Amino acid sequence: MKRIGMLTSGGDCQSLNASMRGVAKTLYKNLKDVEIIGFNEGYKGLIYGNYRIMSPSDFSGILTQGGTILGTSRQPFKQMRVPDENGLDKVEAMKDTYKKLRLECLVILGGNGTHKTANLLREEGLNVVTLPKTIDNDIWGTDMTFGFQSAVDIATEAIDCIHTTAASHSRVFIVEVMGHKVGWMTLYAGIAGGADVILIPEIPYDIDSVVKAIAKRTKQGKRFSILAVAEGAISKEEAKLSKKELKKRRLDMPYPSVSYEIGDAISKKTGQEIRVTIPGHTQRGGSPDSYDRVISSRFGAAAANLILNKEYGYMVGMKNGDIVKVPLEEVAGKLKVVEPDSSIIKEAKLLGISFGD
Ligand code: F6P
Repeated sequence: MKRIGMLTSGGDCQSLNASMRGVAKTLYKNLKDVEIIGFNEGYKGLIYGNYRIMSPSDFSGILTQGGTILGTSRQPFKQMRVPDENGLDKVEAMKDTYKKLRLECLVILGGNGTHKTANLLREEGLNVVTLPKTIDNDIWGTDMTFGFQSAVDIATEAIDCIHTTAASHSRVFIVEVMGHKVGWMTLYAGIAGGADVILIPEIPYDIDSVVKAIAKRTKQGKRFSILAVAEGAISKEEAKLSKKELKKRRLDMPYPSVSYEIGDAISKKTGQEIRVTIPGHTQRGGSPDSYDRVISSRFGAAAANLILNKEYGYMVGMKNGDIVKVPLEEVAGKLKVVEPDSSIIKEAKLLGISFGD
């Protein structure tokens, strides 16, 4: 009998269940004797041996269900080599659980941090296959991650709703979109929602350029402006700071988030009324959209196929519409960012969208 471990780690997203279903359906269909062990709350379950034996019915009816049936948690990669409060070596504990349960392989669904730990487990000799999960779409080696499209839909809807109220009140509205390190979601939702200004971490902004873009619209007789701002947007001055200095600046700032700081600066410079809307974790909630259901099912089938072929140490990814396998050592530790001179940014600028640069 083959025993396959499965876990979801890091922030949740809409299509985790659809992805696990894809893996499970393919395994149950193509292996005579297979048992799936589900670890509760990500790597925590693997570390502390907290698991349950899954049955095919657990994976039934979950294609459209958001969240994760296994639960998840954030277990920072940096802490993996640091013993827990009882002195437990977490990496050794994970290896022990794997060995005790006589697992053939671990299927790990997660984002960037999760992939660093998955690669560490591979280096430690475990068989690992991963699936690219994150609403941020920032995993290196894949054009698309599952969760991204569904989250973009929610952020877009937030901007759509703001449009009517912004037009009625003649105000400047800021919609803050998730994404601390990368701006993929803000870029896509901003374009889809018709934002006038898009601020992302990859393109540091100059507040005077942002104000200029708003003033230009006012001059054209437009009564409102909408800004899509990534939660990790940074100014040109902040871009000069070290990571540590920026972190300190953010902790010290008297605003709940960057959008409020930007809003305050615009208000002081223009006298215009500003409102900030933060959809926050609603962006990770609810059902996956049809696009995510399709790619999750494809990723799941492809990941299971790697197991059927005993091909371990890979993440399944997507390149030009096809599913590919990417070696974990190539994925771990890299970030897929929005390139400031990429075609999508050029087209957005042609449309008249300001990036505040
Ligand atoms: O990684 C996904 C993500 O939603 C990011 O976009 C966001 O910055 C972060 O997680 C929020 O993390 P948490 O759920 O731990 O507050």
